[in-house]
Amino acid sequence: MCGIVGYVGQQECTDVLLNALSKLEYRGYDSAGIAVFEHGKISVEKTKGRLVDLEAKMRQGRRPDGHCGIGHTRWATHGEPSDINSHPHGNKRITVVHNGIIENYQELKKFLSMQGYQFQSETDTETVAKLLDYYYDGNPLETIAHVIQEIEGSYALGILFRDYPGKIFAVRKDSPLIIGVGDHENFIASDVPAILKYTRDYYLLETEEIAELTENSVRIFDAHLQPVDKELQTATWDVDAAEKGGYEHFMLKEINEQPNAVKTTIMPRIQKGVPDLSECGIDDEMLAGIDKLYVVGCGTAMHAGIVGRYVIEKLARVEVNVDIASEFRYRDPIIEKGQLVILITQSGETADTLAALRLAKERGAKTLAIVNAKGSSIARDADMVLYTHAGPEISVASTKAYTVQMAVMYLLAFRLAYAKGTISEERLKELTAGLIRTSEDIERAILQADTCQYIASKLINADSLLYIGRGLDYALSMEGSLKLKELSYIHSESYGAGELKHGTISLITTHMPVIAVATQRDLYEKTVSNIKEVKARGARVIMVCVEGTKVSGDLADYVVYVPETEQLLTPMVTVIPLQLIAYYTAVLKGCDVDKPRNLAKSVTVE
Ligand code: G6P
Repeated sequence: MCGIVGYVGQQECTDVLLNALSKLEYRGYDSAGIAVFEHGKISVEKTKGRLVDLEAKMRQGRRPDGHCGIGHTRWATHGEPSDINSHPHGNKRITVVHNGIIENYQELKKFLSMQGYQFQSETDTETVAKLLDYYYDGNPLETIAHVIQEIEGSYALGILFRDYPGKIFAVRKDSPLIIGVGDHENFIASDVPAILKYTRDYYLLETEEIAELTENSVRIFDAHLQPVDKELQTATWDVDAAEKGGYEHFMLKEINEQPNAVKTTIMPRIQKGVPDLSECGIDDEMLAGIDKLYVVGCGTAMHAGIVGRYVIEKLARVEVNVDIASEFRYRDPIIEKGQLVILITQSGETADTLAALRLAKERGAKTLAIVNAKGSSIARDADMVLYTHAGPEISVASTKAYTVQMAVMYLLAFRLAYAKGTISEERLKELTAGLIRTSEDIERAILQADTCQYIASKLINADSLLYIGRGLDYALSMEGSLKLKELSYIHSESYGAGELKHGTISLITTHMPVIAVATQRDLYEKTVSNIKEVKARGARVIMVCVEGTKVSGDLADYVVYVPETEQLLTPMVTVIPLQLIAYYTAVLKGCDVDKPRNLAKSVTVE
């Protein structure tokens, strides 16, 4: 989604803005622009395309020269990616960058048109710029406070007023924005990586708070313009954590970071060999009272929830409903007071997951967020938080965040089962030890990278693929299929292996490779029967199995083996070859691995 940055200080503003925007490229975007104060005037440069296109445009034209400005990467929602629709928007007096969606923009546009304003772009953002201009009475703070009462939807806004050179104004509601605090320089940004090169200190702007930044000061006010005292946060990541560190792509780096991410996430929560989640108020008494659970998330995060469902239902015998957040929020879910709703999210800012959280709270549920981004909206709004410690995930396609989300779901499932009395303490210890070992198992699974690359070379000409599996392997098939399609643009679907014959098998030809995940011992023979069904119809088959599985030559064309773990824990390792196959397929096809087309890392609109 859109990325916002702003800089005021002594450095060359255009350089800082472009560098900061480059750290937000992972969010996904299709145009870029900046606005900089130059000799008391606001100069705007913007273009459709990537930051390199903006750089090229400025090389051929002019590069704004100043010390205060705002910048933006746009992920198109209202209006196609074009020079005109790119941000910043506004006029010579007031210039705006925006992340989010102004839901009542049509109404506002009509009103402003009646006041004589003419619109150049198709964006919702231009209405905010014009509304600010309409109400502007010489006092930026009062104008902003007025305008936010009239706009509906979500927004993070960076604003320049020509009458106030050397000042940046910012406000947000339901879209993230931080205020970076440096030495004689200050920043605004959608996310921490944008400012890490300059400072680690930042404030988290809360909903409807308005910030005013100069080179030497940051003042923050509430919606009634009362000053707000805020606690300064310090980023614990270092700059390297948000850099590629010698890897060709962030995705490959993040795949390789998984063993460590798992350790960092689980070890502080294991005491005397068993999970201890009391840090966020989860104790056995509370767990024993749970008879039904909801798990909500989007994309890969939701897939981690599906793995959690299998494990919780199997071990703890507690019913689990897993929902896509965008469906949950509108399907009027039946939630009883006090029931636990778990929200899983890497960014902690996904609009639908945030709305699902609010709905659950309105209905009296207890909410637990499993979140990677510290201090994000979902982490702050949920009743309880279990942070995953994956560090910054920059590649749009999620890898390490997924694995640590699963790891937390395992900790929860084990302790829940123990609290419910469905497993003994001995079994609890055995499962926990198995989870600890997965960190090494993942390391060994990553050694299969060459095999995965070879398999990928056999897939690059396919138009479509199927992923099949049963039980936990089906849950993994969903994630494998999503990874492949989002990265390589090859169509793929995942199916419960037993369901194929009820329709989808009609698609099988020699041109439809099938990736069969078959790691679950007790379902293995059943999956083999389904593999034979597709093989008999000419499909090329790639199998993912645990080491030691005897796969006959006529069953699979290629096999990739993962280390054997406790059966319930295989998803922790099975996901590795699935990630690697998707990664190498995309690389071999020449796709933009870290920034796949049309996708955004943090989806802050519904
Ligand atoms: C986007 C990303 C996915 C991610 C999903 C949920 O679609 O591209 O990789 O799984 O959002 O994001 P969240 O931050 O809530 O985990």
